[in-house]
Amino acid sequence: MSRFITDPRFDGIKPFEKKIWLSSPTMHGDEQHWVDNAIETNWVSTVGANINEVEKQVASYIGVRYAVALSCGTAALHLATKLAGEKLYGQARPNRGTLQGHRVFCSDMTFDASINPVAYEDGEAIFIDTEPDTWNMSPEALEKAFALYPDVRLIIAAHLYGTPGKMEEIKRIADAHGALIVEDAAESLGAKYKLNGTWVETGTLGNYNCISFNGNKIITGSAGGMFLTDSEEDANKVRKWSTQSREAAPWYQHEEIGYNYRMSNIIAGVIRGQLPYLNGHIAQKKAIYERYKAGFADLPVQMNPFDPEKSQPNFWLSCMIIDADAMAPMVRGDQDYLYTTEPGKSSPHEILDALAAFNAEGRPIWKPMHMQPIYRTHAFITTEGNGRGRTNAYISGSGADVGADIFRRGLCLPSDNKMTPEQQDIIIDIIHRCFR
Ligand SMILES: Cc1ncc(COP(=O)(O)O)c(C=O)c1O
Repeated sequence: MSRFITDPRFDGIKPFEKKIWLSSPTMHGDEQHWVDNAIETNWVSTVGANINEVEKQVASYIGVRYAVALSCGTAALHLATKLAGEKLYGQARPNRGTLQGHRVFCSDMTFDASINPVAYEDGEAIFIDTEPDTWNMSPEALEKAFALYPDVRLIIAAHLYGTPGKMEEIKRIADAHGALIVEDAAESLGAKYKLNGTWVETGTLGNYNCISFNGNKIITGSAGGMFLTDSEEDANKVRKWSTQSREAAPWYQHEEIGYNYRMSNIIAGVIRGQLPYLNGHIAQKKAIYERYKAGFADLPVQMNPFDPEKSQPNFWLSCMIIDADAMAPMVRGDQDYLYTTEPGKSSPHEILDALAAFNAEGRPIWKPMHMQPIYRTHAFITTEGNGRGRTNAYISGSGADVGADIFRRGLCLPSDNKMTPEQQDIIIDIIHRCFR
């Protein structure tokens, strides 16, 4: 990595004294107040005023009737998926998941926390390829998937990097097939989407909706997540499951499997302090995205795309994708990579290494789930149908795989909202020099 420091292409650039992070927590002071308040009032537990308050505030911001505060977004996704499974296929025995023997259509290019709950519930994830317009689930591939697996009744759709997916189309397809949607809005809190002519928040677009307050998200509690719904019954069920599924009895009585998934009142204090700053963080992230976009205007790269007519992203992470003909050779193994440099070209790993050499953090795009060793045997559906086994040793050409292509050519840029414009200009300069 130190070779970048001595590489003449980078002459005059000095490493940042303090690391520029991909996306780190931004505290404002109010967080300390509410954490102290929890301790002073001795509500150091999974009950307390901070929890009640953040549930109320988030439900009101998003425009849902109920928000259930949980330990993390993954817990929210698990209980949302379990709820969907129970609704579709009935209550499962204690040692079985609600999705046993059933397939679920899942976003492919996402964090595995989106879709692991299918496995927690003993179901089988079928991965749906990505579309190039928003980098989310392709409605066209989803249609193909229903043609191949008409019995499927559940879809898990994520909004990547804060950009809403094509939910109008996805909802229309789901309705046509009587399928339910689990919406993973972990990365997109505060992003807006125009649904049938009306602007709504992500987190309202599925039958079961989830958000995250993980340390790198647009606002954070250090951890935490929420299940969002208009259904009182669903909210009550998730609250019950998340607190070990106690029945109404004087002792610990259980008729259902329970989980210890409730949010802590201390964590809720951090979130309570962060909530007033959500819109401010979005504005900062948007400015970062726009500064990159302008800074890269003369490079053979594009920013992560969105349709301004249909969506207002929260710009959680700024990403870029290198034009196909400006990609320098790069190969990836399962755990390592190799690349060469060529004038006028670069590659995600060259850029990520250059950024790291100068003390800035980027990240590869989420590696699509169909490429993950753990899910190698699961079906993958593209706009052309079955996406597995599409190449032929004897006939040239290969099947479409949009996710694999974005993963190969794309990367996440330092998107920390504490990064100054001057620091961002240096990052833009470093990336320019990668193409020399
Ligand atoms: C798309 C996506 N889904 C789910 C999660 C899981 O959220 P958490 O880390 O709060 O469990 C994350 C982030 O961590 C995410 O980015």
